[in-house]
Amino acid sequence: MKHPFLIDLNDSENWMYPIELIGPDGHKGEDQRTINMPEGVHKLFCVTDSVMYPGKELGGDLHFHEHHLGYEIFFVDSGGLDLYMFGKKTYVAPGNILHIQPYQAHGMDFHAPTKYRGFFHDLSNSDNAPVFAILRERLPDAQKDPNFAKSGGMGISDFLMRERPETEEIPVEQMTTVRNINRPMAEYKLEGATAKMLTARWENGGINELWGAELKKGFHAEFYDYAPTTEMYYVTEGEIEFDVYGEKFVARPECVVKIPKLATRSLKALTDATIYDIGGLTHWYAFFQDRASILKNDPERAAKPETWEELKSRYDCRIKSIGID
Ligand SMILES: [Fe+2]
Repeated sequence: MKHPFLIDLNDSENWMYPIELIGPDGHKGEDQRTINMPEGVHKLFCVTDSVMYPGKELGGDLHFHEHHLGYEIFFVDSGGLDLYMFGKKTYVAPGNILHIQPYQAHGMDFHAPTKYRGFFHDLSNSDNAPVFAILRERLPDAQKDPNFAKSGGMGISDFLMRERPETEEIPVEQMTTVRNINRPMAEYKLEGATAKMLTARWENGGINELWGAELKKGFHAEFYDYAPTTEMYYVTEGEIEFDVYGEKFVARPECVVKIPKLATRSLKALTDATIYDIGGLTHWYAFFQDRASILKNDPERAAKPETWEELKSRYDCRIKSIGID
């Protein structure tokens, strides 16, 4: 039976609408499954899990395109790819994260089958999976019809196929799309954890931000009861025990944890671990900045518990306390 909160991406029981994406020439480009359907006005928490396949030849079809709405984040978890953006090209190895914003035309060329985990918000086509499922059932050969490809394949008005770009090669550190927990935009050290910002709120239309946290074994966090937000986490290293509504379970690498609104929740690192806050609704950057400022400049306020209660409420921080055993 499916677990109510733990989603192991490698367990086919968690795959919705599995589809093979095949080009008009019959070559398979992708195995894609939907993990979580988009939610709410900003189509948050949308998750897909794909294996991307190399083209017929390296440097062949790059599928160079742009979106006019929506933000894409991809965790590159195996394989590897050449990324084409901004008139540049770079090789992206596993362990990197791509952050693609509207109008940033992008193309990819996979060197080997690549586990490619997509987390999206505001993406206009992100709820197409059920529609595609009906199309596949009723017109199984539609994908092979050149007119289908010409239609944009999905009838989406804000998706443009672009001409193949001219590029020069650059080191991966210089490609601003490629994020890595070892090169954070901001970093804050806490007791038993280091929080690192990978994408900022101003790069996400103000909707959310992406943080990774490196946890030491024994780190634990308790949350306020009746938190009014959904939380979504992605674990890439180590083992983390969650307690949601009194149900304990362990998340390991390549597991997503989705905690519904109002659920009681806490977590504890059973080993050193790395976890990403995929929902990213908490204004972590503002919170950590203001926290550091108060701690350094205003010891009187820092000594009062209500200072921290107020700061957490201002920035939608749902964590009541942290510590390390
Ligand atoms: Fe795209």
